[in-house]
Amino acid sequence: MNLLEVSNLNVRFQTPEGEVAAVSDLSFTLASGASIGIVGESGSGKTQTAYALMGLLAKNGRASGEVRYDGVNLLTLSEAELNRRRGAEIAMIYQDPMTSLNPYLTVGDQLTEVLQFHKAMDKRAAFAESVRMLDAVRIADANKRMGLYPHEFSGGMRQRVVIAMALLCRPKLLIADEPTTALDVTVQAQILALLQDLRREFSTSIILITHDLGVVAGVCDSVLVMYAGRVMEYGDAQSVFHDAAHPYTRGLLHALPRLDRAHADAATTGGTTGVTARLNTIPGNPPNLLELPSGCPFVPRCIDRNSACLSPPKLENFAPGRQRACHRLIDELTDLDAPLGVG
Ligand SMILES: Nc1ncnc2c1ncn2[C@@H]1O[C@H](COP(=O)(O)OP(=O)(O)OP(=O)(O)O)[C@@H](O)[C@H]1O
Ligand SMILES: [Mg+2]
Repeated sequence: MNLLEVSNLNVRFQTPEGEVAAVSDLSFTLASGASIGIVGESGSGKTQTAYALMGLLAKNGRASGEVRYDGVNLLTLSEAELNRRRGAEIAMIYQDPMTSLNPYLTVGDQLTEVLQFHKAMDKRAAFAESVRMLDAVRIADANKRMGLYPHEFSGGMRQRVVIAMALLCRPKLLIADEPTTALDVTVQAQILALLQDLRREFSTSIILITHDLGVVAGVCDSVLVMYAGRVMEYGDAQSVFHDAAHPYTRGLLHALPRLDRAHADAATTGGTTGVTARLNTIPGNPPNLLELPSGCPFVPRCIDRNSACLSPPKLENFAPGRQRACHRLIDELTDLDAPLGVG
């Protein structure tokens, strides 16, 4: 059964310069206990999508379309009804973890407060449950650490506390916005593994927002690839990762540091591995959302563009469970991973 069904979600911001189209015609579904990744460069609309789902858009923003959660369109709910669901049924881990923690309160006070507010627990029960949740996110000596302030935790520990706080009320849906960006690679891997474990343990559905398609392939069932507020490609994560069908997705994948590719590059550059560590970022910049081109928004940066791309591509099924918005045939697209001189 689907826990979440998003149809034709649009997010628009009114600004003195004009209307910003931050998210356009976004649709996806998320089954109970499943996970989806939302991937794209900075400014592609990932966070605003999450804010629209949570009813947290800035004052100058407006969401339209449908966000059906458990059959109810969240976009039609009053602030009070949303407040009841936020934190309790739908929880979010914000892009900047420090925004979720109050530096002046102990971690214990912050955790117990959540349970007292949402679950009407008394202080004792809330304390015990908070310790259990800190245990669940693998914080050692949880009982003792309840009395510490956020700055007394390392970055990775703090992120565990934030995850514990998000999971305290056993939400059915967890939105994690770049939960590992500020952490070093080893800690990143630990936090992602932890999210996987917790998903299984609490059967929470997860929306994972990240720049990194590699992370999504390791953690998520499906993936949405966004560019300039639109879906470029959508499908099961493994297929998209191994067999990307959109030039933008291929560009993102090519930009990932990968060991196997480092070897191939070393061969073509005479073995100078120092050069191979570079990132192949997609040349150019995302478009100005105030004046989006009428055709495919990726056209100016697309190595596979032709004249057809000046009209807007539709997001269409091209294989079971897979969609893409591109005029070119998949066979015609450049294979960025082909050895030099081929493809
Ligand atoms: N209040 C606002 N008024 C006008 N434009 C806004 C407002 N909030 C966000 N935007 C614009 O919406 C676009 C999408 O922003 P969003 O935060 O969703 O990007 P993102 O994909 O999360 O990027 P990042 O990876 O950097 O976090 C951006 O161009 C941003 O400038
Ligand atoms: Mg963001």
